[in-house]
Amino acid sequence: MVDVEASARNGFRPSIADSGLLNSLSSYSALQRMVMRIDRAVKYGDPRLDGTLAAILAESMHDPNLLDGCDLTPSCDRYARHLVYQGEGYSLLAIVWLPCQMSPVHSHRTWCALSVYRGWINETLFRRAPVGAEKVAERRLFRGDVSNSPPDPESGHRMANLGTEAAVSLHVYGATYERLGQDVNHIWTT
Ligand SMILES: [Fe+2]
Repeated sequence: MVDVEASARNGFRPSIADSGLLNSLSSYSALQRMVMRIDRAVKYGDPRLDGTLAAILAESMHDPNLLDGCDLTPSCDRYARHLVYQGEGYSLLAIVWLPCQMSPVHSHRTWCALSVYRGWINETLFRRAPVGAEKVAERRLFRGDVSNSPPDPESGHRMANLGTEAAVSLHVYGATYERLGQDVNHIWTT
């Protein structure tokens, strides 16, 4: 059996879709099944990939054992990013947010999809303005709620844990983990 969690820790990237393992999905954990579906969507070039991935994430978030064995250690310094799985050209991350931790306002240079697994996250959406950025919406994302976008330099967002308990969100980005900093987030100076 392919152990996705151990595979992620070891940096191993199985070619799941090619191995015929999809024929017996019931014998795999929720995390393994989710990764197999993400693998397939990415590999076969879904035209609305970010939306498809968001739907896959949303369907998985209510499994209480989804992230068993994953490192969800928080950090007092800033929100903590943990690689759950390194796919072919994409990364699956768990982000742990302590109360009051937040991201900077940023846009994405690649597609992305996220869903909340534990707690809740406040997401503020921005558009580029002639000077700085204009806030266009704000919403609370609870377990199973999603946010997703294709690459869009004109749209930004800020994620924040405004609750009183730690929150965990799962994110899929179209870049390998070592390139996340330079290939994914463009930090806005608002
Ligand atoms: Fe983001």
